[in-house]
Amino acid sequence: MEIDPTGLSTPELYKILTGSILPRPIAWVSTLDPAGQANLAPFSFFTVASVNPPVLCFSPLLDDKRTEKHTLANIRQTGEFVVNIVSCDLVERMNQTSAPYPPGVSEFAKAGLTPQASTVVRAPSVREALIKFECTLRQIIGFGSEPLAGNLILGQVRRVHLHPDVYRNGRLDGQALDAVGRLAGNDYTTTRDFFELSRPRLTEETS
Ligand SMILES: Cc1cc2nc3c(=O)[nH]c(=O)nc-3n(C[C@H](O)[C@H](O)[C@H](O)COP(=O)(O)O)c2cc1C
Repeated sequence: MEIDPTGLSTPELYKILTGSILPRPIAWVSTLDPAGQANLAPFSFFTVASVNPPVLCFSPLLDDKRTEKHTLANIRQTGEFVVNIVSCDLVERMNQTSAPYPPGVSEFAKAGLTPQASTVVRAPSVREALIKFECTLRQIIGFGSEPLAGNLILGQVRRVHLHPDVYRNGRLDGQALDAVGRLAGNDYTTTRDFFELSRPRLTEETS
């Protein structure tokens, strides 16, 4: 089957994209609104954009009514955010923070999480998360004003916080981190089932 995406409805497109591009890591993004109220929400349209300099990117979509999510509005106004990594024991609290709370309500309090002061940005991190990246805004690339239009936020990492349980002798311990990923719909995956595959080396025979 071959599809021209311009002939699909937005819900159909959403299902094909999120059902095909998976598993997706989850950026659990904390921000402050201009009044100083903390906000926290998960985003699985998320990856590393650059290592040198270190840049992370994630994309809050406009909602069905074309409204910007609080995370996007806060970052536009403050230029700062923290990406927290979601370990499996935090997954229910992460999900709780995705509820559409009105502005001014702190998802930290609603989900029983502790805001922790950051070092170089004003937005707090999630104390319970084992890895956090303090970021400053580099660029926002908007893809229009239709419902579910993306807004790719690129943020430069200014501080990395690694809990000693997950970072020992210069190595990250993926099992101790126990990160989760998002699949389609309400499905998630762990990082507990993995296999090793060495990168190919070119030899005279294979090159
Ligand atoms: C695991 C997970 C991943 C999500 N990923 C995204 C995403 O990549 N983009 C998006 O716009 N919404 C995503 N959402 C929905 C937002 O978290 C939700 O709209 C949230 O209320 C936004 O909060 P805010 O308005 O405080 O920014 C996701 C929800 C969950 C549970």
